[in-house]
Order: sequence, then C-alpha cells, then structure tokens
Amino acid sequence: LAQARRQSVIWMPYQECTGCLESLTRSFAPTVENLLFNFVSIDYQHTLQAAAGDQAIEALKVAMEENWGKYLLLVDGSIPLKDDGVYSVSHGQTHLESLREVAEGAAAIVSIGTCAAFGGVGAARPNPTGAVGVDQIITDKPILNVPGCPPLPEVMTGVLTSFLAFGALPEVDSLKRPKAFFGDTIHDRCYRRPFYDQGKFADTFDDEGARKGWCLYKLGCKGPITYNACASVKWNQGLSWPIQSGHGCIGCSEPNFWDKDSFYKPL
Ligand code: SF4
Ligand code: F3S
Repeated sequence: LAQARRQSVIWMPYQECTGCLESLTRSFAPTVENLLFNFVSIDYQHTLQAAAGDQAIEALKVAMEENWGKYLLLVDGSIPLKDDGVYSVSHGQTHLESLREVAEGAAAIVSIGTCAAFGGVGAARPNPTGAVGVDQIITDKPILNVPGCPPLPEVMTGVLTSFLAFGALPEVDSLKRPKAFFGDTIHDRCYRRPFYDQGKFADTFDDEGARKGWCLYKLGCKGPITYNACASVKWNQGLSWPIQSGHGCIGCSEPNFWDKDSFYKPL
C-alpha cells in the first residue's frame, strides 16, 4: 500500500482569479500539505508547479497518458464560449478546447468555485466573453460543483478526501453540490438566527443593533437563500466568517449572485 500510486489530480485554471487555489492552501483538516504529499498527486496546476511553458504542457500530457480514464479533473474559472473561446487562452490553446481535451480522459470532474460551477463573475451582466460553467460544456462525465467565491477550503479538501475514500463523487443536490456541505442554508445554521426570529435587526452597520450582534437581514444578508457551510465550518481555521465579522452573507455560492440586485438591499 505504501507503494501504491497516489490518485492523479489534474487542475486546470481557466478564466479565474486564483482565489480558489489561495483558499485551498488554507485548509487545516486535512492540511493541503498532508493531502498533497500523502494522498493525491497534483500532476498539473500551473500556479503551484515548478515547471512552466513547454515543460508544464509536457507534464500535463504525460499525466493524462499515464492516468487516462482515471484522473480526477479539477477546474477553476469559467470558460468563455463567445467567438470560439478566444477570450481566454493558455499556451496558444483556448480554454474551451483545453477543457474538452482534458475532460475526455477524466474519471470525474470537480468544478471548483462559483465561476467553474455557474459562470461566476465572468458571466455577470453583460457577460462579454459568453462565460459559462463546466457542466454547460461537458455533459458526459460525472461532475461535482463546489461553489463559493472562493469555496471553503475544508469543503474542497473534504470532497477530495471523499473521492479517495469511496472512489466516487459524493451525493449531490439539484445543482450538483455535495449535500454534506450544501444541505442547509446559511440562515439555517446562523448564530444570529434567534435575533431574526425575535425581529431584532441592525438597520445600519454602526447602530445599536449592529453593536449588539443582531440579525443583518435588513442590511442585505442573503443567508436565507444561500446554501453553504460557512456558519458551521467557518473560515480561517474556524476562527470567524462573514456574518461573525459583522457583514451579511452576499450569497457567493449561489448561481448569478453578482446580478441578484444589490448586495446591501434586503431580499
Ligand atoms: Fe439569517 Fe443573515 Fe440574519 Fe444570520 S444574519 S439570521 S443568515 S438573515
Ligand atoms: Fe459566501 Fe455567504 Fe459564506 S458570502 S463566504 S456563502 S457567508
């Protein structure tokens, strides 16, 4: 077992900001070092890897050939469709072509972040590049969506660990999100919920209600319509999360959250 080959993971960054990768590196259970050195082999990730240019592409080709049909493909970033995808290109190849090529040999695909899952900020009005999420292009592979802008690190590592343990993607909801992490709304688990139930709301960010930690609904909190695990897993090694720091949830793990009218207007 000690000599067993680690699961090959190929991570393709497309029209993205690298925030999802930044988030992954903050995972504490499991830590990303533990995951990388002991359980998976990330065979391509152009921000993390030492190789660049032709060498990086060669490494990608070798990883695909050696693990054809078995590798797990991770994608972050949306994929532009307009004008044959010319608005997002790496190494002379559009990301549209790249995705089709790399997806063909994948056992399964995990769309990391709201952009890869639903189009995200790239697809926000007026969507100048015709950006879409992975499952709008690839329809013949198992796909899991792990949305969030960025996703919680422990949700990303949790999904990878689950794939390693069971050899398959976990149970999903109607938007292909793992139910274990996206089964409840932020509002369902929010520690400010008793104030909501009592009708105690902050009206401004610096009034008495805000200082007393009352519900942020009137300041535009989208917790009631947002499915994610922030209220229970939290951020920064369980230290805090948006609502605990005094700002309402902006619904960053939901489709089209950029276009759902102002972040600061009540539902
Ligand atoms: Fe719900 Fe937001 Fe109020 Fe928390 S702060 S109880 S998520 S509306
Ligand atoms: Fe995003 Fe809301 Fe969590 S804005 S980070 S889903 S609290």
